[in-house]
Amino acid sequence: MAERVFSDQLGDWKRSCYCGAARLDAVGKEMTLAGWVHSRRDHGGVIFVDLRDRSGLCQVVFNPASDPASHDKAKQIRSEDVIAVRGVLAKRSLDTINPDLATGEVELKSRELRLLNASAVPPFVIADETDATENTRLKYRYLDLRRPQSLGHLLLRYRMTKLIRDYLDGLGFIDVETPVLTKSTPEGARDYLVPSRIYPGKFYALPQSPQLFKQILMVGGLDRYFQIVKCFRDEDLRADRQPEFTQLDMELSFVQPEDVMAVVEAMITLLFKELKGIDLKRPFRRLTYEEALNRFGSDKPDTRFGLEISDFTDALRNCQAKVFAGAIQKGGLVKGIRIPRGGEMSRKDLDDLTPFVATFGAKGIAWTKITAEGWQSPIAKFLSEAEQKKIEVISEAEVGDVVLFSADTAKIVHDSLGNLRLHLGEKLGLIPEKEYAPVWVVDFPLMEFDPQEKRYVALHHPFTAPLDEDLPLLDSEPAKTRSKAYDLAINGIEVGGGSIRIHQVELQRKILGLMGIGAEEASAKFGFFLEALSFGAPPHGGIAFGIDRLAMLLSGAKSLRDVIAFPKSQRAVCMLTEAPSGVDPRQLRELGIRVSGEGK
Ligand code: AMO
Ligand code: AMP
Repeated sequence: MAERVFSDQLGDWKRSCYCGAARLDAVGKEMTLAGWVHSRRDHGGVIFVDLRDRSGLCQVVFNPASDPASHDKAKQIRSEDVIAVRGVLAKRSLDTINPDLATGEVELKSRELRLLNASAVPPFVIADETDATENTRLKYRYLDLRRPQSLGHLLLRYRMTKLIRDYLDGLGFIDVETPVLTKSTPEGARDYLVPSRIYPGKFYALPQSPQLFKQILMVGGLDRYFQIVKCFRDEDLRADRQPEFTQLDMELSFVQPEDVMAVVEAMITLLFKELKGIDLKRPFRRLTYEEALNRFGSDKPDTRFGLEISDFTDALRNCQAKVFAGAIQKGGLVKGIRIPRGGEMSRKDLDDLTPFVATFGAKGIAWTKITAEGWQSPIAKFLSEAEQKKIEVISEAEVGDVVLFSADTAKIVHDSLGNLRLHLGEKLGLIPEKEYAPVWVVDFPLMEFDPQEKRYVALHHPFTAPLDEDLPLLDSEPAKTRSKAYDLAINGIEVGGGSIRIHQVELQRKILGLMGIGAEEASAKFGFFLEALSFGAPPHGGIAFGIDRLAMLLSGAKSLRDVIAFPKSQRAVCMLTEAPSGVDPRQLRELGIRVSGEGK
C-alpha cells in the first residue's frame, strides 16, 4: 500500500465533547469530535466511520450528497487514523439503532472532515477480544491501551489511589517522599544497584521498600505517614510479582497492632464498596500463622472453599507404611486432604498429582478411595484397620471420598498440600469466583533458622517487634518467639504486610545479633538507623500494601501486568523500550565498571 500522508491541522477547531458523550439530548446540535478510526464501512455511496476516543465510540456518516468533499476524503481513511469531524448530531432511524452502543441511537452527520494523522496498519485489532500475544501487546502498549479493557484497568487503579489518598488525608496522614537512590535495606530480595560516578566502586541501592525511612520519619515526629511509592526487588518473577512495583506504605506512632489493622480494614472495606459495590464483613477473619499453616498449608490462605488439611501424624506414628513412619521418625509430619466425592477420580487423575507436588519438593502423594468395601489404595495393606478408622475420623471421610497423604518435613508437607489444595479447588470448581475473603494472619514467628546460612533470619524484616509475652523466649528458644506482625491476604493473595517495630535500640541490637548481624556489621549497614532509635524513637508500627496486587484483585485482572501502564515482561524486560540494554562504553568507563563474561 502506498504510504498515506495526512497533513490537515486541527487549526481553530475545538473538540466539543468526547465521542461517548454524544447522546440523544444533543441531537440537532453542531459538534466537533476527534479521535481514532475504529472501523470504516463503505456502503456504496455513504461511508460510516466508528470514531473512538477514551470515552467510547460514535458513528459518523459521510454522505456524498450533503458533504461531497469530506466523503471524498473519507475514502482514504483506515483503522487507527486520527481524524476530527465537524457535523450535526442526528437521531438514527429506528432500524439502524445499535443497542450495544451507549451512543447507538445517534450519529454525527459530517459537514467537514480533517485528516490529522495516518496510522500504519496496527499489528493487532483494537478490541477487548484480541489474539495478540502478551509480548506483542506490551511492545505496542500504546495500541493496547486503546482497548477499553486496558484503559479500564488503569482507570480503576487511579480511582483506587485517589480514594486511598482522600481517606488517609482525612485521618491526618502526611504524604512524604523518600529517596530512590539509597542504601540497601534487608527485605529479603536481591537489590538493584546503581553505580556512583563520583565515588567509583560505590553503589546506591534502589529501595526494596522505604522501611527505614518511614521509621525515621516517626522518630522525626511526623506521627502518621503514607506514600504511594515505587519499590524495587530483583527476584524471580511470577504472575503476582514485578521487579518494580508500587506500595501503599504507611507508618503510625503510638499504636498497637489493633490500631493499624482498624485503620486499614476500614480502607480496604471502602475500596471494595466504592469500586465493586461489595460489602466486606468486618472485622476481617483472623488466623494465627500456626493455624493458617495447619489448616490451609499457607500463610496467605484462600478461605473461600474447604479442602482443609488434616494432621495424621499421631495416628500413623507406628504404622507399617515406611513412607509415613520414616518421615515421622525424622521429625516430619503426615498430613492429608479429604476430597469429598473424590471417588470419581480416575487412577490417572490421582497419579497426575505426583508431578504436581514434586514441584514443591514432595517425593510423592499417597491416596486412598473410601468405598463401601473398605479402602481401595496401594497403601491399604500397610495400615491396620484401627489406623484406617482413625484417618477416616480425623478427616471426616465418608464412602465415596478420596483421602490424599503427604509425608515429609513440615515445610514440604505444608507447601505441597497448600498448593495442591488450591490446584484441586480450581480443578474441581470449588472456588466461588465472585466472593472475597480477607484474612489477617497474625502471630508469625519472629525468625526461623536458615540451615543453609546457619543462622536465624527474620520472617518479615529484622525491625519487627516480638510479642511482649514472648520476650523471654529470645534467650531460650528464639525460633519460638512470635512477632507483632500482621499480613492481610485476600483470596489467597498477600496484599499487605506490616508490624509493630522495635523502637528501643538495645532490643534492636539484640535481635540483629540473634540473626548473626554483629555490632560491626550492624553499624556499617544501619548505624544511621540505630543512632536514630537512640534519640527518643516513639513506639510505632505500620504496614505496606501491594497497590498492583490490590488493583489486580479489584479489577479481576489475571496478571499484575494488566494493571501497570508499562510493566516488565515475565522475563523482566520492558518490551516497549527493550530495557535492560547495553550502554555506551564511555558511560562504563566513567563509572569505573568493566563488564566481564557474556552479558554486555
Ligand atoms: P512486604 O515485603 O511484605 O513488606 O511488601 C508489602 C507488600 O508489597 C507487595 N509486594 C509486591 N508486589 C508486586 N511485586 C513484588 N515483587 C512485590 N513484593 C511485595 C505485596 C506485599 O504484601 N516494608 C515492609 C512493610 C512494613 O513492614 O510496613 C514490606 O515491604 O502485596
Ligand atoms: P512407593 O513405595 O515409593 O511406590 O510409594 C507408594 C505410594 O506412596 C505412591 O502413591 C507414592 O506417590 C506415595 N509416596 C511416596 N513418597 C511419599 C511421601 N513422602 N508422602 C506421601 N506419599 C508418598
